[in-house]
Amino acid sequence: QDAAKGEAVFKQCMTCHRADKNMVGPALGGVVGRKAGTAAGFTYSPLNHNSGEAGLVWTQENIIAYLPDPNAYLKKFLTDKGQADKATGSTKMTFKLANDQQRKDVAAYLATLK
Ligand code: HEM
Repeated sequence: QDAAKGEAVFKQCMTCHRADKNMVGPALGGVVGRKAGTAAGFTYSPLNHNSGEAGLVWTQENIIAYLPDPNAYLKKFLTDKGQADKATGSTKMTFKLANDQQRKDVAAYLATLK
């Protein structure tokens, strides 16, 4: 995992995200270690919000697993928690990142953001 390479990958995320402010997507500074759906002042989808309420805390590892298909990841998280009834609707994050190395590198970069 290479945070410097991840900084370059993060340019794709910057269409919608910044470290320090909400845009189309929530601020990602401090996201590693943060409960899902809790960036101050951001209005999340019920799916993202409910995942946090069900215990999802972002780690490098689960961000790597989330990025190929955010919607599927969150629905599976809730279903595995026995809360399939809360896995309603879709995440507002429509972007997907398939490349495994890029996902590892961007997760390492996110961990450097405060
Ligand atoms: C949510 C990461 C690209 C739009 C999130 C979350 C993470 C994340 C970790 C959950 C945040 C939380 O629970 O507080 C990334 C990364 C990206 C990326 C690492 C690039 C590799 C994008 C792009 C868009 C986008 C390009 C817009 C086209 C959103 C939106 C949400 C979100 C709208 C809120 C989802 C919801 O409320 O359902 N992103 N994102 N993201 N992202 Fe991204």
